[in-house]
Amino acid sequence: MNGHLQVFADPAAVAEETARRFVGIMAQRPGERFSLALSGGSTPQRFYRLMTTSPWREQIDWGNLHIFLADERFLPLDHPDSNYRMIRETLIEPLAAAGGDVVRLSVGNIHPMPTDGTVEESAIRYESELKQYFGYNPPCFDLIVLGMGPDGHTASLFPGHTHPVGPWVLPMHNSPKPPPTRLSLSLEVINQARHVLFLVTGHDKAEALSTIRQANEETLPAGTVQLDAGELLWLVDEAAMGLAKA
Ligand code: 6PG
Repeated sequence: MNGHLQVFADPAAVAEETARRFVGIMAQRPGERFSLALSGGSTPQRFYRLMTTSPWREQIDWGNLHIFLADERFLPLDHPDSNYRMIRETLIEPLAAAGGDVVRLSVGNIHPMPTDGTVEESAIRYESELKQYFGYNPPCFDLIVLGMGPDGHTASLFPGHTHPVGPWVLPMHNSPKPPPTRLSLSLEVINQARHVLFLVTGHDKAEALSTIRQANEETLPAGTVQLDAGELLWLVDEAAMGLAKA
């Protein structure tokens, strides 16, 4: 498999390690702006909530943090299944409620994927937004947090789907995980990141994780993440390793 893997007792320990890693990675370049791309799903929610609590929130340079989406479900941003809404409810709003001097996450630093117009138009608009941040160089996120589905998908890159090479943001149709229409960072963009953390917990991920760990040639999308120059780390719990009962 690509990258390194670390096993933790349970989802809480995975979230703690993710927070510790994030703080450490951001501290490597103090005072510089930092691009963080976040995923949807249930697994990263513990990490998002943890970042809003002490002692983590005091260690994050919120003023320099830019939050992007790794993928989005093509739904209104206030829809209960919207990834942005989940990030707003688990991270952005609790932070605002915590207030205080250390917590300054500016609205202009939050970059949701647009979900109005057609999905193709939205992909182009988000790519333009990325170009405003990264310039016309290939985007190099400081950190991308990814999950993995039981079928081995990651972000909104699903097994058996083919994607054009070139666009930074892909409009996706026919997703087997609802809703069928989505937006996703491309594999090429993910692979250019400085750091990627895969968060994988639960028994339902054990089969896909085992396939990826044993594969000589990667076929599942999560297994095809291979960073050009960055550091790829899988933070998984014992259940996802098939080591513990659900
Ligand atoms: C989404 C995702 C998706 C997710 C995985 C894992 O919008 O659904 O971003 O790629 O990360 O499906 O989801 P869970 O953490 O809920 O298992």
